[in-house]
Amino acid sequence: MDSSLDELIAQARDRFAQAGDAATLENEKAVFLGKQGSLTALLKGLAALQGEEKRTRGAQINQAKQQVEALLNTRRGELAQAELDRRLAAETIDVTLPGRGRGVGGIHPVIRTWQRVEQIFRSIGFDVADGPEIENDWTNFTALNNPENHPARSMQDTFYVDMNDAGGLPLVLRTHTSPMQVRYARMNKPPIKVIAPGRTYRVDSDATHSPMFHQVEGLWIAEDISFADLKGVYTNFLRAFFETDDLTLRFRPSFFPFTEPSAEIDMMFTSGPNQGRWLEISGSGQVHPQVVRNFGLDPERYIGFAFGSGLERLTMLRYGVDDLRQFFEGDLRFLRQFND
Ligand code: FA5
Ligand code: MG
Repeated sequence: MDSSLDELIAQARDRFAQAGDAATLENEKAVFLGKQGSLTALLKGLAALQGEEKRTRGAQINQAKQQVEALLNTRRGELAQAELDRRLAAETIDVTLPGRGRGVGGIHPVIRTWQRVEQIFRSIGFDVADGPEIENDWTNFTALNNPENHPARSMQDTFYVDMNDAGGLPLVLRTHTSPMQVRYARMNKPPIKVIAPGRTYRVDSDATHSPMFHQVEGLWIAEDISFADLKGVYTNFLRAFFETDDLTLRFRPSFFPFTEPSAEIDMMFTSGPNQGRWLEISGSGQVHPQVVRNFGLDPERYIGFAFGSGLERLTMLRYGVDDLRQFFEGDLRFLRQFND
């Protein structure tokens, strides 16, 4: 092969080696093999030759071209490998670093209470029902004998959405679980024996009141269910819930539009660190005849009791927590104490 071709190959080897990345390398390729490239020009020059000379020269140039192409491919491979090495180095994981640990979740103390309450009431034959947190005004208030503009409504201020423009009833974030009495009773035949735990909302905020909290509603309606049954069921529930017989209950006369007579249920531990202090945990009463009528039942025939208890209150008593806002702050140091 003539020395000018050897020189050309040497030049290509040099320039390819100088190219530090793929884009530069492709530019260098054009210098030799592109439309204006030097090898391309030599191949074009063959047209001016004849016979044996043309064949020999052509073979030489093609051989040179193959060598340049081989050099190019080798360099392409080197650059690709270098790029891969660079990325592997950049993305290296230091397996000797300490791990972050597995985040083991736990059950929130109020949800623990919810689960315990369900378990206890199921064991004595209560059904468990669930219903909407966004309730209509009629079910939350009116059906519970709490008519529009009645002052008793102000006992439970809440968040309203006026649906007049949409042609509907006003909607409220339910202030209590009592609307579930109405929903369940209208969908089931007596005897009715149900609890309905869930979230409730009011315009409230202090150490024992949160704007979002949980209640559990209880309802037992049949032909012969009396206030005495309420006392028995609720006393047994509290003994099971707190796992002690060392507690006493007081049914303190009160007012709710949907029960008559009505009572707040207060309890007191008679032993242990928290003994001797009365604490309100629930509203209750015998279901008002007008409400039984709103259930679609005859109040001359059907009678029973209802209660609505605060799940945060029960949780505070069980664990000795004195500010319920701690339940909603999401502080893991606080929450971890309930999961071991
Ligand atoms: C009621 O909500 C009635 N619906 C209860 C009822 C049901 C009476 C069935 C008769 C028959 P009251 O507003 O007292 O009643 O609330 C009941 C319980 O919910 C309270 O004893 C308390 O434990 C809890 N509670 C009320 N408001 C809050 C609040 N803002 N934060 C946390 N707990 C609350
Ligand atoms: Mg109350």
